[in-house]
Amino acid sequence: MNNRSEFSSKLGFVLAAAGSAVGLGNIWRFPYLAAKYGGGLFLLIYIFFVVTFGFAIMMVEIAIGRKTKLSPIGAYKALHTKYSFIGIIASLVAFLILPYYSVIGGWVIKYFVTFLTGGQAATANDTFFVTFITSPLQPVLWQIVFVLATLAVVWRGVKDGIEKASKILMPMLVVLSVGVALYALTLPGAFEGVKYFLIPDFSRFSVQAVLAALGQMFYSLSLAMGVMITYGSYLNKDDDLEKSVKQIEFFDAGIAILAGFMIIPAVFAFSGGDEAALNAGPGLMFVTLPKVFDTMGMSALVGGIFFLLVLFAALTSAISLMEAVVSTVCDQFKFSRKKSALIVAFTAIILGIPSSLGNGIWSHFTVMNMAFLDLMDFITNAVLMPIGALLTCIFIGYVIGVDAIVDEVKKSSQFKREKVFRIMIKYVAPICIIAILISSVLSAFGIIVL
Ligand code: PFF
Repeated sequence: MNNRSEFSSKLGFVLAAAGSAVGLGNIWRFPYLAAKYGGGLFLLIYIFFVVTFGFAIMMVEIAIGRKTKLSPIGAYKALHTKYSFIGIIASLVAFLILPYYSVIGGWVIKYFVTFLTGGQAATANDTFFVTFITSPLQPVLWQIVFVLATLAVVWRGVKDGIEKASKILMPMLVVLSVGVALYALTLPGAFEGVKYFLIPDFSRFSVQAVLAALGQMFYSLSLAMGVMITYGSYLNKDDDLEKSVKQIEFFDAGIAILAGFMIIPAVFAFSGGDEAALNAGPGLMFVTLPKVFDTMGMSALVGGIFFLLVLFAALTSAISLMEAVVSTVCDQFKFSRKKSALIVAFTAIILGIPSSLGNGIWSHFTVMNMAFLDLMDFITNAVLMPIGALLTCIFIGYVIGVDAIVDEVKKSSQFKREKVFRIMIKYVAPICIIAILISSVLSAFGIIVL
């Protein structure tokens, strides 16, 4: 009955899943969070979460996909007829993230093109970023270009589109990241930044840092959005799941660390060791970094390469988001891949427009003080994502039982970390997820400061 597409090799699967995980979250978000929450300390907490319950939840999702060979809604339904709603939440999150992720992807293309065409000096200007994102037309056009590039890959299907693109883009991403990181480390004064990034300062430990690392782990590993279920559903029955998950995590943490090396020492060098320069939040990559590039000898080249690698990372993540939604539309409505892909791309463009205009001409429309893009980010990452993850843990731990997943994993792996896995899913993960959910909602209402 099931003539579902499959990845042609384990490598293809690992690169595609790593492509999903490695994205703007690693290069844009991770460095500014690490900078904000005490450098080395944040890194340590983050890695701890990745190898403990990041590992457990990713195993669950890929195993659900491989076991059922269905996209999220059908997959949960196949496991228990009453629980398809968990799949609906997951697909909904992917559907809602894709548009605003594409808006930021569009910004990255704009920066890349600006560097490529010799306009890098302008990007170092304080007003460049704000003028660009607040203008009504330009960011929308770049967002459309980004969605169309994503569509071009998803259109071609699992093997010829996603797998091929990942096999080309991911190795290039690694090479370019290593190159830029090495270059950044040679800048005078960079060493102070390396120390800040790597040596944990335990006096800066805070609950906020722990919660931020937890949230970042989910986002960065593309968990609870149906993506890993979808990619798992294209996986061959005899691929070693445990090993694949370890490799995907290695990739994800590796690129986040490289991004830290690319950005933090360079900013330190630029600011003469003043930590305050790192506190630019989301503006670190789009505002501070271009200034840093501007002081370098080969600014057009280094900056151009940097934004190209960010673009590759963003594209492979957007591809996975689009694929999760497209495969759901194909399965639920029995549409062809091409028809589904066109519908999803079109809605991503339309829904992305308010996220873009919310920075400029529609900035007076706010909900709880959030512009549209921030609101979408809040609803998906801070609310729906933890709810979906929590329901998944409860469903696996207490409804169908952890054995269902363990059996699937053991079909092709020894499952050395089985004990940890069981404890994570049943006890540790649900408690931590509830903590993220409560804290992010409280912070949105201004009751606590994150
Ligand atoms: N993991 C991606 C990143 O770090 O940028 C973002 C992402 C992709 C989140 C796909 C969720 C997802 F389903």
